[in-house]
Amino acid sequence: MRFPVLALAAFCGLTSVAAAQQAADAVAPEAASARAKAEARPVLAQDWMVVAAHPLASRAGADVLAAGGTAADAMVAVQAVLGLVEPQSSGLGGGAFLLWHDGETGAITTLDGRETAPLAATPRLFQDSAGAPLAFFEAVVGGRSVGTPGTPALMADAHRRWGRSDWALLLDPAIRLAEAGFAVSPRLATLVAGDAERLALHPDTAAYFLPGGKPLAEGDTLHNPAYAATLRVLATQGADGFYTGPVADSIVTAVQGAADNPGVLDKVDLAIYRVKEREAVCAPYRVWQVCGMGPPSSGALAVGQILGLLQGHDLTALGPDNPESWRLIGDASRLAFADRGRYVADTDFVPVPVQGMLDPSYLQGRAALLLGDDALPEVSPGTPAFDHTLLWADGPTLEQPATTHISIVDSYGNVLSMTSTIENAFGSRVMAGGFLLNNELTDFSFRSHDGGVPIANRVEPGKRPRSSMAPTIVYRDGAPVLAIGSPGGSSIIGYVTQALIAHLDWGLDVQQAVGMGHALNRFGVYDLEEGTSAEALAAPLQAMGYEVKIGPQTSGLHAIAIGADGLQGGADPRREGLALGN
Ligand code: GLY
Repeated sequence: MRFPVLALAAFCGLTSVAAAQQAADAVAPEAASARAKAEARPVLAQDWMVVAAHPLASRAGADVLAAGGTAADAMVAVQAVLGLVEPQSSGLGGGAFLLWHDGETGAITTLDGRETAPLAATPRLFQDSAGAPLAFFEAVVGGRSVGTPGTPALMADAHRRWGRSDWALLLDPAIRLAEAGFAVSPRLATLVAGDAERLALHPDTAAYFLPGGKPLAEGDTLHNPAYAATLRVLATQGADGFYTGPVADSIVTAVQGAADNPGVLDKVDLAIYRVKEREAVCAPYRVWQVCGMGPPSSGALAVGQILGLLQGHDLTALGPDNPESWRLIGDASRLAFADRGRYVADTDFVPVPVQGMLDPSYLQGRAALLLGDDALPEVSPGTPAFDHTLLWADGPTLEQPATTHISIVDSYGNVLSMTSTIENAFGSRVMAGGFLLNNELTDFSFRSHDGGVPIANRVEPGKRPRSSMAPTIVYRDGAPVLAIGSPGGSSIIGYVTQALIAHLDWGLDVQQAVGMGHALNRFGVYDLEEGTSAEALAAPLQAMGYEVKIGPQTSGLHAIAIGADGLQGGADPRREGLALGN
């Protein structure tokens, strides 16, 4: 039920200033949303909502939803625009994981659109001739790190399953922006300037991001006719137009022809690419079920383990300002990361103890390690129920802090949570068809063995690299109450877990939860976000025995809370995204 805004304001007894503000907000939702974000208030809506990393992407999604499209339709429009205006984070050349709560059936489906190692890849892909691991950026920049992209197939698959709108029309906003030009955002300009040396290494990439040899500046109008042409092929031919034919040819030429560091991706890899439906990984947490993406992502397993390890502790009573809360969260996270490093990889290639890692009795045993007062002196993987005649060596991987997250609720009650990536900022720095190609293969372990023992996440042909992406939907009594996720490489797990605890245990609204200063611990060092209240934890955590590092923590948490009173959206204040709803 909708009321004219001024009539509603008068009915609610609002002052004339407030009424005028509401009227202005109704005609300028982007400005209203930006103001809400600046004032740490959630955006409110009744029917639908989209939260994405750039106002133009949120707008594309909002227009689809307003016209009666589903969350899957809106995602297609949002992703196509993000690949243009936030090209450093995600796009057609990357991969993604998608969670779908179906408003009609109540079922959750998870889709794996992860990039895949070419058939010609070997476990020595990232080793030198003596078998030593390459330096990270030696591996990243060029064709070697490029896996078969999954995002175009995922967009098409989600649309085929759940879309109601015309596929080609959904790509229109991105095509129009690519042809008419869009303003380079402050974040894109800063990242281009900071990466100019690497972007200069590949001619197409240099021509696009460093026109005339100079980095794009904030506010420059950027056109991308090549991207528009690729989207037109997708519009008329569907995903096949990407995975075969001239677009596929140009990807293979760019990868194999990358100067200094060519890759082995071939036409057959593109032709055989498939989205995989995986079983959702759901973990109980107090009165909630926290559901997410299983392997090859470690996201839901790690988030579920951390929450499971904290079940026995009253975090609400302890509160967010108490260092004891952070000792528990930090060491629970270290324990989960130890298991992740040893056990989690692509289940199509290695058995992963998914059930065992979330088994309440296993977690109870691990949680006993948290009963002291100080930081755990050391942490090692546990022994979840599993065939332990299979030996895995530890293979921790970092995953870099690029990526993007999209949360959408539509007017049919569907909920979508999708994290999308090209891995490092600007991926492999190789471009084809107007988009950047991923460097996702560097999410594999560079070493294949340790002391003769194989590493689960080693490179193998056709395998998908382990991820930390954690698109999440939280349920209470069978109904979805929250969609959330973040970019941030291996920090994603900490960002999402903290926001969940902030919202569920500490009662923060979604905007406060995504904006809260970060404190996270993956591998022993406690990372505290500079310039935030998290810095105050430094001294008490050091007194407990933690090494502490203060620095930026550029999460990009995008959340929608779903309640009896409607929808509340939160967009991470560290990035440029907006929540738009109606
Ligand atoms: N490349 C980021 C991730 O998959 O976690």
